[in-house]
Amino acid sequence: MHHDAVLAAVPAAVAIDRVRDGFLRFHAGEWVMPAKVYLDSPPPESPSVGPADETARGGDRLGGDFRAMPARGGGLALLKWISSFPGNPALGLPTVMGVLCLSDAATGEPLMLLDARAVTALRTGAVAAVAARALALPEARTVGIVGCGLHGAWAARCLQTAGYGPGVCFDPRPEAARSLADELGWTAGRRTEAVRCDVVCCVTPGLEIVFDAGDLHAGMHLNMLGADGPGKAEATITAVASCSLFCDEWHQASHGGELTGAVEAGLVSREQVTELGAVLAGDAQGRPGPEGVTLFDSTGLAIQDLAVAAAAYEAWQAGVVQAQTVEL
Ligand SMILES: NC(=O)c1ccc[n+]([C@@H]2O[C@H](COP(=O)([O-])OP(=O)(O)OC[C@H]3O[C@@H](n4cnc5c(N)ncnc54)[C@H](O)[C@@H]3O)[C@@H](O)[C@H]2O)c1
Repeated sequence: MHHDAVLAAVPAAVAIDRVRDGFLRFHAGEWVMPAKVYLDSPPPESPSVGPADETARGGDRLGGDFRAMPARGGGLALLKWISSFPGNPALGLPTVMGVLCLSDAATGEPLMLLDARAVTALRTGAVAAVAARALALPEARTVGIVGCGLHGAWAARCLQTAGYGPGVCFDPRPEAARSLADELGWTAGRRTEAVRCDVVCCVTPGLEIVFDAGDLHAGMHLNMLGADGPGKAEATITAVASCSLFCDEWHQASHGGELTGAVEAGLVSREQVTELGAVLAGDAQGRPGPEGVTLFDSTGLAIQDLAVAAAAYEAWQAGVVQAQTVEL
């Protein structure tokens, strides 16, 4: 199923409901998810490529990696095979590309290939809304988006679908902030305005700090979405350690998420962090009180992909969208 068909098959409200359900089923042990596998793809050694060519061929210079993300649940099994090549824009290609293979869990029969960019964008935006509903103050409305690229835009769209807004969009690329703000009827503003909102989402590449302890204010909820791999961070470890902490999955978040720096510095340990599924199921406390600051660390789970892929497959079965078919 191609990119636009996935987006047509799964409206944001459906993605939010299905991703929430996926977290509940994973927490209950009904859905399973082995750890994701990283396969590095370093730049090829090419003595003939000089400095000028290296700039032009950014993808070659930087290399990238592949990630294999499996999950099973609801009678389906899924493998997401997705890449991240930071130099790709210089080649006119997206940074992130890949496919999802959805199979029948009872027979192993491959059922559908889906565009991974669309599924990833939907499920990442959806979890921002799921976490805000679970952890933000009931009266929270305003949204600050720090980083208005692909996934920042989907976080904003899903939060608006979930009833949040208006919001302030900040991005060092003013056109990105303006375009998202115009789409949603929000405003483009400064970073300091965005972080004053009730719900703040950081969705930058995670290469520099965009949130520090001075930005914390009573009652806020933070969705940290950008740091989804080793070496990335968007907040100072002091800011992280000052919050009530939640994550999608402890192993991923403590090894390649926003929590990693604070965990490695010995400021945060396992028992201080609650997984979102436990809060949704009512097995763990969520927000500690109206004055508390909650931080949700999203690293991105294959169960989220499974939740959205299953919804897309059902929509195709119901004739809501068309997709090409092939005989293997
Ligand atoms: N948590 C998850 O499940 C998940 C899923 C997908 C992607 N991601 C991660 O989210 C991040 C963003 O991905 P994307 O696809 O939206 O990238 P993108 O390149 O489309 O957008 C990133 C945006 O951040 C902006 N930005 C850069 N520096 C900034 C700063 N200092 N302050 C504010 N904005 C800044 C850029 O101008 C750009 O608009 C990446 O690190 C990606 O790996 C996480």
